[in-house]
Amino acid sequence: MAFLFQKLAFFSLSFLQFALHKILVQGWEPSDPTKGFISLPLNRSYYHIQKPYDLPENQRYCFSDGVHRCWVYSTDKPHTPTSQTKPRTEIAIQGYNYSYGVWQFEGHWYVPQGTSGVCIMQVFGASPPHATTLMLRVVNGSLLYYRGPVLVQDIYDKWFKLNVIHDVDAAKVKVYINGCLIFEADGRGGTSHAFKCGVYAQNDDSYYMESRWKEIKVLRKCD
Ligand SMILES: *[C@@H]1O[C@H](CO)[C@@H](O)[C@H](O)[C@H]1NC(C)=O
Ligand SMILES: *[C@@H]1O[C@H](CO)[C@@H](O)[C@H](O)[C@H]1NC(C)=O
Ligand SMILES: *[C@@H]1O[C@H](CO)[C@@H](O)[C@H](O)[C@H]1NC(C)=O
Repeated sequence: MAFLFQKLAFFSLSFLQFALHKILVQGWEPSDPTKGFISLPLNRSYYHIQKPYDLPENQRYCFSDGVHRCWVYSTDKPHTPTSQTKPRTEIAIQGYNYSYGVWQFEGHWYVPQGTSGVCIMQVFGASPPHATTLMLRVVNGSLLYYRGPVLVQDIYDKWFKLNVIHDVDAAKVKVYINGCLIFEADGRGGTSHAFKCGVYAQNDDSYYMESRWKEIKVLRKCD
């Protein structure tokens, strides 16, 4: 009996220490991934819209009430006449191509029911044969790192906050959803990187693909 009591007391104490540690070190709220970063100016001069080359922009992209809406059909043309890639409508933030340092993308995203087999956000640039350092894809209602693992399930018709931190020097990428670190991966080389978001068809793409974005930011770690 005394032994049991001792054991119980020990467990309660450990739990208390654990809880105290969590409160003191991490706080109750999810941490703010942008702490220590500065937000950079971002307007149309820093990005352009990649869309099927034969269509006007307003047939696949619109910006209203602070929301960017990107959509594409699996039967659409690629973004240039010579490209062999699948169709896309992407916000390409090429005003901030980077090759070193620690960079961060922040944005809120929404994918409507039915959209599948599509990349919604990428860190462009890697060592061949790769073209990207990170792809976040939507497949059958889940958010995936490339073809897996699954990072978030049951994502349709909801807004999520996304933060992606790319530490080029350490060759690491971190993915935060709603302020919580949910995934970490190694970099994949490359000498020039840029953030992109929207819809870029991948394998098993649905006929219609759409993602919406708001409050997009590009940040850089302070020196
Ligand atoms: C975009 O922002 C930059 C830097 O703040 C500014 O110099 C430029 O005039 C802006 N361009 C437009 C089209 O608003
Ligand atoms: C950024 O990189 C892209 C893709 O390599 C390129 O098309 C674009 O011109 C670059 N932009 C700047 C400002 O260097
Ligand atoms: C997605 O769903 C389709 C149809 O049910 C199925 O054929 C496919 O294997 C699923 N893909 C994944 C990655 O779960």
